[in-house]
Amino acid sequence: MNKIPKLITSLLIAGFSSLNMMAHAQSNDLSIIPQPQHLKENAGEFRINSATKIVYDKTTPGLADIAADLAANLKSRLGYPVKVTNVINAGVGANIIVLTAKNAIDTLGNEGYTLSVDRNQITVRAPKANGIFYGVETIYQLLPVMKKGETVKSLAVPAVEITDKPRFGWRGAMLDVGRYFYPVDFIKKYIDYLAMHKMNVFHWHLTEDHGWRIEIKKYPRLTSVGAWRTGTQVSHSPVVIDSTANGGFYTQEQIKDVVAYAQKRYITVVPEIEMPGHSLAALVAYPELSCTGGPFKMPVAWGIQKDIYCAGNEQTFKFLEDVLTEVVALFPSPYIHIGGDEAPKDRWKACPKCQARIKAEGLKDEHELQSYFIKRIEDFLLTKNKRIIGWDEILEGGLAPNATVMSWRGVKGGIAAAKQHHDVIMTPNTTLYLDYYQGEPSLEPVAIGKRVTTLEKVYQYEPVPAELSPEEAKYIKGLQANIWGEYIHKPYQAEYMTMPRLSAAAEVAWTQPNLKNWEDFKRRMEKQYDRYASMNINYAKSAYNVWPTVTADKAAKKATVTLTTDSYQPQIYYTLDGSEPTTASLKYTQPFEVTGPVTIKAANFRNNEKLSKVTIKQVNP
Ligand code: ACM
Ligand code: ZN
Repeated sequence: MNKIPKLITSLLIAGFSSLNMMAHAQSNDLSIIPQPQHLKENAGEFRINSATKIVYDKTTPGLADIAADLAANLKSRLGYPVKVTNVINAGVGANIIVLTAKNAIDTLGNEGYTLSVDRNQITVRAPKANGIFYGVETIYQLLPVMKKGETVKSLAVPAVEITDKPRFGWRGAMLDVGRYFYPVDFIKKYIDYLAMHKMNVFHWHLTEDHGWRIEIKKYPRLTSVGAWRTGTQVSHSPVVIDSTANGGFYTQEQIKDVVAYAQKRYITVVPEIEMPGHSLAALVAYPELSCTGGPFKMPVAWGIQKDIYCAGNEQTFKFLEDVLTEVVALFPSPYIHIGGDEAPKDRWKACPKCQARIKAEGLKDEHELQSYFIKRIEDFLLTKNKRIIGWDEILEGGLAPNATVMSWRGVKGGIAAAKQHHDVIMTPNTTLYLDYYQGEPSLEPVAIGKRVTTLEKVYQYEPVPAELSPEEAKYIKGLQANIWGEYIHKPYQAEYMTMPRLSAAAEVAWTQPNLKNWEDFKRRMEKQYDRYASMNINYAKSAYNVWPTVTADKAAKKATVTLTTDSYQPQIYYTLDGSEPTTASLKYTQPFEVTGPVTIKAANFRNNEKLSKVTIKQVNP
């Protein structure tokens, strides 16, 4: 009796899910990332040409800048200027691009927008300038992708009606400039990459054991000494240390410039000043802030350092308050990240001053001493009207009362913090650390550890853990992708590790889960790759590479081989005889069995063109 109802049920489910897909997937011409909340494609198009005017509502702050940037962007594509005006009158009824907050839908909140394109006009409407900015970013994704420097006479914008707003308020990416210094030009590019993905937080990891990167006027040795080192670990297996000198830091003027640049793109720059650990560069400069008094050398190998700020020494707090006073003055962000991760307690255990502090404050152990440390810093920052964020170790000796927790050691910390009704940013290393391998490791540049975080793995991440009640889930404020710098020496490498996985993270952060669709995302990524290329981004093409999964049946002396990719409509060809795969080789259509020792070589093609590297896998069942 079971068979028929079961079949009917599965047909119904299949029917509903394909209906669901049709309702939400974009047509083959549209490739908006992240996927908007409501998108309706209509017949026809708007043409941007020499008579088009951009009209903005001058009563909403920020729109003049957005209009000017839109005009500059269009000029770069058209080769001639597009007029901008703030005068809406009867004479400008057609061939206009309108940016306005008037009659916007209130429920779109701070970041939502509507975008309407028809034959006569484009209208971006939003309660706040942030939303208008995102609406304009969506317009860019409706335009054809052009080569850098190429111009056309007019630009077609397909007719659409979009109503859009983000799922999460915190959509971030962290860049570690402590291990390697990246120049301001690149930081600005990185901010552009966030903006094109509608991300709104740039977490700037400014201090590390291996380098202090922010000018602090009161403590010049932080950068004259702590920003420079000779020697760096360039490989982990085996460990290889080279002897190159490197370093650098951002002056306060440069920081103000970056912050202003980000502000224009509706991105909050959250600075991170690490404490009590990850602080060796500061201790090299000022050894009196340590438990032992030093002296110390700048580290050249990666890994956790045992020397951290002394928590028993009042000078440490004076120093950090001075540093934070300068930091607070540079960053309008309501949050300051104070680190808190990976602070070994060895020195505190052996330090008379730290032990005296534990006794005097009635603390149980060194974890409570760390909480005392962080709470003191929180109290200080609250006097400056700033809230703290810390890595999930700040839970260990008890959370500071107003702290936001960044859950990085998986999601446990995030769950614990949300259950204590603290705000949480999800950034689990298992899915959102973009310094991990993104494809078959033998085909990738050296990355940290062995873990592989593919494009699909990032895409399929769900930031709200099932363990949380709906009430607790409200404390999950969003997510962040983190790029740690150990093996990312240069900006082009940071681009490689970030893109395309940032696109997946952006869609997880922005798009409602029921609208996510991996197949359609892969299709949209095809145009996104072209956008990256048009921006000269050194993006990774790892998603095209073939990923082999081998399931061995030792007893039967055979193995089943599955070949997959993270690319759209892959055409995988493979060989078993050691020759290079071509489109004349075996075509992969389904998992296959091998019985003897064999070398599989596989690649991904389109129209006879090889899109991937060649994956080589030895199988010996
Ligand atoms: C971290 O990865 N240590 C936050
Ligand atoms: Zn101490």
